[in-house]
Amino acid sequence: MAIIETQSLTKHYSNGKIKALRDFSITVEKGAIFSLLGPNGAGKTTLIKVLVGIVRPTQGSAMLFGQPIQDHSIHSRIGYLSENHRFPPFLTAKQILYHYGKMAGVKPSDLHRRIPELMKLVHLEKWSNTKVGKFSKGMMQRIGLAHALINNPDLVFLDEPTDGIDPIGRREIRDILKKLRDQGKTIFLNSHLLSEVERISDEIAILRHGQLLQRGTVQEFTAIKQQFEIRVDKPQEFKQLCADLDIPCHLTGHQLTLVLPDYEALNSVVDKARANGFLILAIQPRKISLEDYFIQVLDENRGEIA
Ligand SMILES: Nc1ncnc2c1ncn2[C@@H]1O[C@H](COP(=O)(O)OP(=O)(O)OP(=O)(O)O)[C@@H](O)[C@H]1O
Ligand SMILES: [Mg+2]
Repeated sequence: MAIIETQSLTKHYSNGKIKALRDFSITVEKGAIFSLLGPNGAGKTTLIKVLVGIVRPTQGSAMLFGQPIQDHSIHSRIGYLSENHRFPPFLTAKQILYHYGKMAGVKPSDLHRRIPELMKLVHLEKWSNTKVGKFSKGMMQRIGLAHALINNPDLVFLDEPTDGIDPIGRREIRDILKKLRDQGKTIFLNSHLLSEVERISDEIAILRHGQLLQRGTVQEFTAIKQQFEIRVDKPQEFKQLCADLDIPCHLTGHQLTLVLPDYEALNSVVDKARANGFLILAIQPRKISLEDYFIQVLDENRGEIA
């Protein structure tokens, strides 16, 4: 079931001088971690703001849970952590969750149960009664995440949730997001941390100048289908065998990379290698990092957009 569905969504600012979103159409399925990537100013925050009802689209339409975004009843099922969020510094962590929870329409009895659970989830339980003005950047992100979950939402929008968080904290947030996905919640993430996104996302979209350039899974983006990495017991001799068979082959350390047209050609090489007494230790399609892929896509689409 599609939880988010946009059709030709367009947002112009400054009387059309800035085209922050252009004809953006996408669907996100229930229970997915969906990540939106794009350089600064690509339109990522604008898309979230349109979907949560903070800014109005100029053209196009969008549905959340099958309902138009103009329908306010959907808001009780949404959580939102905004980019560079700020909370009143004189409130304690617990007070923030209480006040925002009340504003989100959560019953006080539910809040008394839910607040300690959330403080534990984001590893802030010892800081419940501390004013957030004293919080570090990472702690602010965690309380922001807890606040986005206060109404137990089915769909959570997180705009740069790991910004300013150290590596251990980022791993903890990754684990929280996976836990939420396992509960059937849908997560929409904006992030610049590509190694992070690579680890948790079920699907990724790349946005530039408000336009969708690519969408797919991390596996689809990072596997180079016609290149295979092979480890064998005698790499130098194997390289010679490839040269005899006229197969492009590069040897780096003990790792051989073969360029082959398809899986049949790969199997044929394996047969020949086995017939020649080689022991094959491992074979896998060659991969590039999501960061390499991202830069490649942006380079390929470098052309000016009006
Ligand atoms: N309220 C606004 N008024 C005018 N222009 C705006 C407004 N908000 C955003 N923009 C412009 O719209 C474009 C998209 O901005 P947006 O904040 O959505 O990008 P982003 O992808 O989230 O960038 P970043 O990675 O820096 O957070 C930018 O050119 C930005 O300057
Ligand atoms: Mg942004």
